[in-house]
Amino acid sequence: MRLGARGIARPSTGIMPPRGVPSSRANDARAVGPACGPQTPLTTAGLDADVVEADLFSFAPAAPFEAVYEQTCLCALTPGRWTEYEQRLHGWLVPGGRLAVAFMQTDAAEGPPFACRPEAMRRLFAADRWEWPADLVPEPHPLGLAELTGILRRRG
Ligand SMILES: C[S@@+](CC[C@H](N)C(=O)[O-])C[C@H]1O[C@@H](n2cnc3c(N)ncnc32)[C@H](O)[C@@H]1O
Repeated sequence: MRLGARGIARPSTGIMPPRGVPSSRANDARAVGPACGPQTPLTTAGLDADVVEADLFSFAPAAPFEAVYEQTCLCALTPGRWTEYEQRLHGWLVPGGRLAVAFMQTDAAEGPPFACRPEAMRRLFAADRWEWPADLVPEPHPLGLAELTGILRRRG
């Protein structure tokens, strides 16, 4: 599988790998957090994948991905840029491509992290562009907050 990203971490953004990477190198693509060198955890784990560092608002893969893992990136962006981010995610995926989401749940009025409430996410990832699972699954987050997780599928 050609996997897109485990969230976005600047400067060690994990967005990878574009088409053209040999398939043997594309199978284990993972991204990394910002605390270590971007390639190091992959190499340490024996995974053969590439890490791309980029501003997500200018990142343009050579070819779309089959899957993207969005991990606490949306909630780090000001909501005024969420529509642009959704368009980016949509454009990075092949039709039918999967977007693994982890929508941050918080009662805080300010962010980051900004609350990604289910009703707002339903509007942002609109049903005419994304196929939704029946339910999102709550998962605890190390900050003591919860995320709603699931896999959306790009339509068309
Ligand atoms: C809450 S952190 C999540 C980091 C990582 N995904 C994780 O789960 O550990 C959000 C990250 O988004 C990054 N970020 C914010 N705006 C970005 C942009 N325009 N391009 C790339 N990364 C960005 C921030 O630098 C930050 O590292």
